[in-house]
Amino acid sequence: MEIGIPEAFLERMAWLLGDEYPAFLASYEEPSLIGLRVNTLKLTPEAFRLIAPFDLSQRVPWCPEGFIVPVEEHPGQHPFHAAGLYYIQDPGAMAVARLLDPQPGDWVLDLCAAPGGKATHLAALLQGEGLLIANDIDRARARILVKNMERWGARNVVVTSERPDRLVERWAGCFDRVLVDAPCSGEGMFRKSEAARQEWKPALIAGAARRQQQILEAAAALVQPGGRLAYVTCTFAPEENEGVIAHFLARHPEFEIIRPPWYPGFASGRPDWLEGDRSGLDDGLWHTVRLWPHRAPAEGHFIALMRRRGEVAYDDVPRARVQAPPASARRAYEAFCAETLTINLDGELGWWGSTLYLVPTSLPDFRGVRVLRPGLPLGAIRKGRFEPAHALAMALRATEVRNMLRLSLSDPRVFAYLRGESFPSHGDDGWVLVTVEGYPLGWGRRTRGLLKSRYPRSLRGR
Ligand SMILES: C[S@@+](CC[C@H](N)C(=O)[O-])C[C@H]1O[C@@H](n2cnc3c(N)ncnc32)[C@H](O)[C@@H]1O
Repeated sequence: MEIGIPEAFLERMAWLLGDEYPAFLASYEEPSLIGLRVNTLKLTPEAFRLIAPFDLSQRVPWCPEGFIVPVEEHPGQHPFHAAGLYYIQDPGAMAVARLLDPQPGDWVLDLCAAPGGKATHLAALLQGEGLLIANDIDRARARILVKNMERWGARNVVVTSERPDRLVERWAGCFDRVLVDAPCSGEGMFRKSEAARQEWKPALIAGAARRQQQILEAAAALVQPGGRLAYVTCTFAPEENEGVIAHFLARHPEFEIIRPPWYPGFASGRPDWLEGDRSGLDDGLWHTVRLWPHRAPAEGHFIALMRRRGEVAYDDVPRARVQAPPASARRAYEAFCAETLTINLDGELGWWGSTLYLVPTSLPDFRGVRVLRPGLPLGAIRKGRFEPAHALAMALRATEVRNMLRLSLSDPRVFAYLRGESFPSHGDDGWVLVTVEGYPLGWGRRTRGLLKSRYPRSLRGR
């Protein structure tokens, strides 16, 4: 096997899969797939097809906004990626948010969210209504999540970096949907990730299962009656999949497995691979989903969808009290809005770490929770003037600003802008929303016929 799949793993898979093993093994000879999920906050898949320079003939069966694209087309380096028109994601991972099925208006918590593949999908399915809290315990990874959310342009997303049990202290029973995309032994990623192959050893599995149980325990407390909980891994080990769920259901009779919609390529969970007595639990476990690289256009995944019994009851959850901005900051922001925007943005203005935020109108009390993004960053005050945030540009539509520079994809100024260069541009002085094919790339500042790129330095290409 050229890509160095661990022998002990293969031996175990041969034993578990039996007759199916040769097909599974052959899947490692195939390249991993690149999936592209269209950002439906910005455009429909149909509108994207009209402008996309990629081969979009292969659709993802379980995700109408998902496509499988040829690796050599490098969609990660395209200006449409900078414009947040899509997220590059394993097609299998696209099943998760679709099965959790958040409804606009819901409160959704993604407990292990970084770098943000599934969180961006959840935000898109909310369609700007309700609230997504995207959390990751690892602060550095949570910062990457903030960046990906910025590009995605979602307004109603809060990013936190906290231990799940600490979130329970504040938000027990608050959420309509909770996702646990658990840290795992990563066996399902062997085809695409050398790091996953190198880090794997059999001893990882038991430790991962213990950690997963702990995270799931906290997640359960965060779901409100009638709400849904999805547990996901990207590994094949039954101990981390059916085993964790069997253990969880034995402790939590208030949860039941629900049968998800079934798509071509889905395979059933395998409770028969578990050891020990699981009387009464097996029926539900057959309705968990396994994605196999030899059966579906996907890397390996496991998904269990559960429901907390009971009726949804919207108790009065204590709401967040956000610090109001200083009067001077508010005035500078209002002057910017009058000069630049054609709309009023919905939400409360908050002041957090010297940045002005648009805080979602419904937000639970977050005292004691480490928050990295309490809503949509609007901008900061520099030398007494309002400087709009890149995140604000990404959350606007071209029609929502007075000054817009519309560049076509073939215009060399697109790449000049993304490299941070200035170029001549006629029109009124002031803030200009620079767009590619009508979709925002970021801010520019025009002064006497010269437009200076304000594309963030950290994102600039060569
Ligand atoms: C599989 S990755 C998540 C991938 C992400 N959901 C996505 O779709 O892009 C698992 C994440 O769990 C985080 N993690 C590890 N232990 C955790 C814990 N106890 N609580 C919350 N997150 C944790 C890791 O930092 C990692 O980012």
